[in-house]
Parts: sequence; structure tokens; C-alpha cells
Amino acid sequence: MAAKPRVAVTRVIPDAGLDLVREATDMRLWEDPLPPSADELDTLLTDASGALTLLTDLIDGPLLDRHPSLKVVSNFAVGFDNVDIDAATERGVAVCNTPGVLTETTAEMAFTLMMASARRVSEAIDYVRAGKWKTWGPTLLLGQDVVGATLGIVGFGRIGRELARMARGFNMTIMVYDPYEDPKAAEEFGVTYVSLDDLLRESDFVSLHAVLTDDTHHMISTGQFRAMKPTAVLVNAARGPVIDTDALVEALREGEIFAAGLDVTDPEPLPADHPLVALPNCTVVPHIASATVTSRDNMAILAANNLLAVLNDETPEAIVNPDVLKR
Ligand code: DGY
Repeated sequence: MAAKPRVAVTRVIPDAGLDLVREATDMRLWEDPLPPSADELDTLLTDASGALTLLTDLIDGPLLDRHPSLKVVSNFAVGFDNVDIDAATERGVAVCNTPGVLTETTAEMAFTLMMASARRVSEAIDYVRAGKWKTWGPTLLLGQDVVGATLGIVGFGRIGRELARMARGFNMTIMVYDPYEDPKAAEEFGVTYVSLDDLLRESDFVSLHAVLTDDTHHMISTGQFRAMKPTAVLVNAARGPVIDTDALVEALREGEIFAAGLDVTDPEPLPADHPLVALPNCTVVPHIASATVTSRDNMAILAANNLLAVLNDETPEAIVNPDVLKR
């Protein structure tokens, strides 16, 4: 009987996927709740032909060079900015991700952050917990309306489109900025493509769903905040560095925008003493947009199946650099 391939799994993922990997491979599992350090990751990857990684693992060219036995890096995430794709492709390493199975769940969190930020939910909870609730007040904790407002979606991929679908149920006017315009999608989802400037100027809510690249790094900074309405709410369920954090702190402090709802931050994790945490008009949750039982099970199954497919010389369901399979 042929020996099972050696694989590294860099954190405990739901059993739905972990059992598939355990069954089919000689699995080495990082069981600590915190990610392995760079050295620990190196040790874990020794002689591995496959790795099931998380967005907290940095996979770059030098690391791939130290592990020439690697055939596949299967990321337990739809995003893959933790992996140097060009370096992997040059070395013939397949990189897989988990699109599709977390779309609605992630859009749902973007919508949750829109609502929570507009209606000052975390501030209101703090108010009650602090024993400040003495009476009903005509001007107590006034927020912004969501129904009928204008939503600007930056990045119109799967998640942005799902958010548009949800927003239509709230009778929102939806404008979209994406450098790759898809007129058919605009018609299907009832949205209008506009420039980023127009979107920022006219939106009551701005929700970020752009992939993190050199082009989108700090895409929202001082100039962009100044263009936004003082009543606007900014939501980020994409990647933290799409926003310039210092500029955001300033904008929230100075009332350049009304509020922000963040699933992702820069830095991440955000230290408890970070200025954003103390700002009453900033709602921060710890990168949990895809964190439902069903979505995480499905991510685990897809990440496991992608990994095993490449190891079995089959085509995985989701691969970022399909050219490597042709070699
Ligand atoms: C992703 O998948 O990229 C999210 O950030 C975590 O689910």
C-alpha cells in the first residue's frame, strides 16, 4: 500500500473537513489556538506535500523554497493575500481557496455592521451596562436610517453582489465602484456603476468588498474621508489595510463621517488599547464575518477537498493559479 501523503494543517478547523484530511493523509496538526510562529510553521511543513493554511500564515517565496516538497497550499479562506501567488506559481505550487461557501454569511455581517453602526447598537449596549438608562429620551442615541438610504459598494464580486441583493429588500439605492464593470450584473442586481469619488460623495453607507492588492492598499484615506458625508457609515468586511487606520481614527474623531463598522482592521488583531476601540462611533468585531457553523463547516470541507484533489492529481473545485495544473 502506498504511503499516505504528509500534510500540515496549521490550526484546528471544523471536523467536517479535518476528518477528511486525517483519513486520507499522514496529517500533522498545529493544535494551539494561536498561529504557529514562522519557525514553528517551518517545522510543521517539513517534508509536507500539502498544507492547509489560514489567513494568519504568511506563505512567501523563501518559505516555499525551504519546502520544495509542497505541491499545494489550500487556504481556509476566500481571501489569499497571505500567500504570494506569483511565488507559488513560479514554483509550481497550487494555491486553493474557499469561494462561494461564505458569500451570504459574509454579506450578512456587512449588513449587520451597517445596521449596528447606523443605529449605534454597541454604544447603546454600553449605555445600559453602565447604568445610564434613566428614562426614555426624545434625542437619546439618535442614529441614521438604513431603509431608503444610498449604499455604495466598493468591489462587486460575489459578496458585494449578495449585499446588493439584501440591500434591495431595504429599498436602498445602490451604487457600485469596481474597476471591472459588468453591465449584466448591474442590471441583474439593480445597481449603477460610478467612480469611487462619486460613490464616496453620494453614499449614506459605504461597504468595502475589494480584494487587498497594492492598488487597494489604503484606498480609503484622508482625502476619501473628506469626500464622504458627515452622516455616512463606513463598513469594512474585506481586509483591514484597504483603510488607512490613522486617517479613519481622525475622521471618526473629527466627525468627518458618522460611524464605522469593522470586521477587519489594520493591525489585526486590534489591541484593546487601540484608539479605534475607545471611539464610541466605531464598532469592531474580530474578523468573524464568515463565522457561522454552516459556513465554517463548508469552508473546512472545501479546503480539505481542494487539498486532497491536488495531491491526487485531480482538478480542485477552487484554485487561484490554475496554470500550475497544466504543467
Ligand atoms: C476570508 O475567507 O477571506 C475571510 O476573511 C475569512 O473567512
